[in-house]
This record gives sequence, structure tokens and C-alpha cells, in this order.
Amino acid sequence: MESYSNLAKALEKYPSLIDLFIYKELVKGSPEHLYEASLHLIRAGGKRLRPIITLAVARMLGGQEAESKALPLAVATEVFHTFTLIHDDIMDQDEMRRGVKTVHKVWGEPVAILAGDLLFGLSYKSILLARQRGLSDKQIRMAVEALTEASIRVSQGQAYDMRFEEEEEVDYHDYLNMIYLKTGALIETSAKLGGIAANAPMPIIERLGEYGAFVGIAFQIRDDILGVYGDPKKTGKPVFNDLRRGKKTILVLYALKHSHGEDREILARILKGNVEDEELLRRAADIIKETGALDYAIKLAQTYSQNAISIIEDIESSGLVEDQTHANILKELARFSIEREK
Ligand code: IPE
Ligand code: IPE
Ligand code: MG
Ligand code: MG
Repeated sequence: MESYSNLAKALEKYPSLIDLFIYKELVKGSPEHLYEASLHLIRAGGKRLRPIITLAVARMLGGQEAESKALPLAVATEVFHTFTLIHDDIMDQDEMRRGVKTVHKVWGEPVAILAGDLLFGLSYKSILLARQRGLSDKQIRMAVEALTEASIRVSQGQAYDMRFEEEEEVDYHDYLNMIYLKTGALIETSAKLGGIAANAPMPIIERLGEYGAFVGIAFQIRDDILGVYGDPKKTGKPVFNDLRRGKKTILVLYALKHSHGEDREILARILKGNVEDEELLRRAADIIKETGALDYAIKLAQTYSQNAISIIEDIESSGLVEDQTHANILKELARFSIEREK
């Protein structure tokens, strides 16, 4: 496996910048329990993938000045992401995330809903704070539009995700659209926000959006793989939860199509949801491998990741790249999205 020498540099400098802005400028107020609940997952860690993309894009196209202007926009994506995680854990009835108890498990669902709502509001506030860093009214408006697009799409995607739990069969196209909406759209916005901060031409901002969408789809396919074969010590989330809930991931959809007899019956039972029998869940994980579904999902994710890398290469050849290291970071991030263990 190739290394992540450029990405490692981004991981050294960006998370502390992002976190400082969150703690010092944005997520402060009362009542205390609401803010504690809102900060719970942020304090627990996370990869900070979305804001890192915003900052790296801004730096790639507009150097240090654009990177500094982009910080509140980057923070908006992470705070928005945290809102979606808190509500997602209520919807998925999950009890662990980032190695800690989920917000509704600690504070109860009403406070968790409010903590999410607060972070949703604060994500827009963060964009508005970018004025103080010299973003123009037009840039602010474009950033608000981009985040609004993501918030609509994430809701649509989450609704499809939940609806698909109840459906017997879901076709690949609908699955891909669902993961684009629930995960791709916010990463699309993260990349666009970097372009907006750097005052990039509109066609470049659109291309950056496509880069983010491709990374997001690849990233979610990897999330679905880690949901079955991941190590909870690394992911901070339990395994088999998607199987337990009858989630329609590409793994089970492909495996169902390519299995027969008893194997097929086992998968069909699991896809109906509420299977708690560990033995059966482990058997399903084996069937997914035996049918070639795991290989298929890996290849599919590779295609999206490679498409994302090609977009950055296109932007490189446009002559607009001011900082090659940060173009490399974005290419490494596309690869990391499908190779990651957490
Ligand atoms: C988890 O996102 C939810 C998905 C969209 C798959 P991440 O894998 O980026 O979670 P953190 O932020 O690193 O915890
Ligand atoms: C990820 O949903 C998408 C959002 C949180 C909007 P998942 O339910 O697939 O992600 P994890 O596995 O709980 O992190
Ligand atoms: Mg979930
Ligand atoms: Mg979910």
C-alpha cells in the first residue's frame, strides 16, 4: 500500500485549527447540558474528513489566504456532519460512535434531537462568521446555497435509507442514489466550499463538487464494508449493526442476487431485519464473501475513488493549482476513503 505522506501533513495541522474554532468561536452558550450534549461527539474525535477537504481545496487554489478564509466554512461542514450523526444514531438506534456512547444514550432522545438542531443552526452561523475573515456577501450567499443543498439532500438520503429497511429488494441504482444523498452531498458541499473561499471560477467549483460526490460515494461503500468486516476498536462502532437492522447495503443486495438455497434464505431473513442471532450474522458475513459481493463492493468503490482522483488531475492541468502539495492531499484522501480501517 502506498503511503499518505501529504495527507499526514494535513492531519497534523488541520484538526487543531478546526477544533479551536469550534470550541472558542462557535459552540458556546447555555443551557450547559445542551452544549455538553452537542460537544460530546466532537470531543470524542472523528476523522474531520469534511473540513479537511474544504481547507485543502481552498489552499490548493488560493494559498494560505484562501485557506484562512475557508476555516469557518470548513467548521460548518464538521458541525453539520455532527448534527447528522446525532440524529442518525437515534434513527439507527445505535449505542456507540467514535468509541463513546451515542448522545441519545447519555442524554435521552429529546436532548439529542435538540443537540442536533443546535449544531444545524450553528453550522449556518459559522458560514456567516466567515464575513469577519473577509469573505464577500456573494461568497457567503454561495456558501449558504451549497450547505442548504446538502441539508436537503441528506434528509432525502436518510429517508430513503430508512425506507429501504422495509423494502424486500432495492436496485443498485437506488442504493447508489441513496448513498450519494446521505453521504456524498455533504462531501460535495465541503469541496465546493473550498472553491468558493478561493474565489474559483464556477466550472471549477462544479468539478470540485463532483470530486466530493465521488469521494463521498466511495467513502460510504467503505463504511458499509467496515460495518460488516471492520474492527470496532478501530471504527469506534459495533459490527453487524447494518445487518441487524436489515440495511440495504450493496454487500447484501449483491449477495442476495448471487446466492442460492439455504444461503439465500439466510440473507433474505436478515434483510427483513431484527435478526440478533450472532451465529447467523457471522454466517451472512461469510456468504457475502463467498458470493463475491465483497470484491464487487471493493471494485465499485475503487471506480468512484479513481474518478475523484481524475478530477483533481484535470484541475491540475487547468493551470489553476497554486499549491501542488494540497492537490496531492486531495488525491490521497480519495484513496484513503476506500483503504481506511476507521
Ligand atoms: C460517518 O462518517 C457517517 C458516514 C457518512 C459514513 P465518518 O466516517 O466521517 O465519521 P467520523 O466523523 O470520522 O466519526
Ligand atoms: C451515514 O449513515 C449518513 C449520515 C449520518 C447522514 P450511516 O448510518 O450509514 O453511518 P454510520 O455507519 O452510522 O456512521
Ligand atoms: Mg448509522
Ligand atoms: Mg444511518
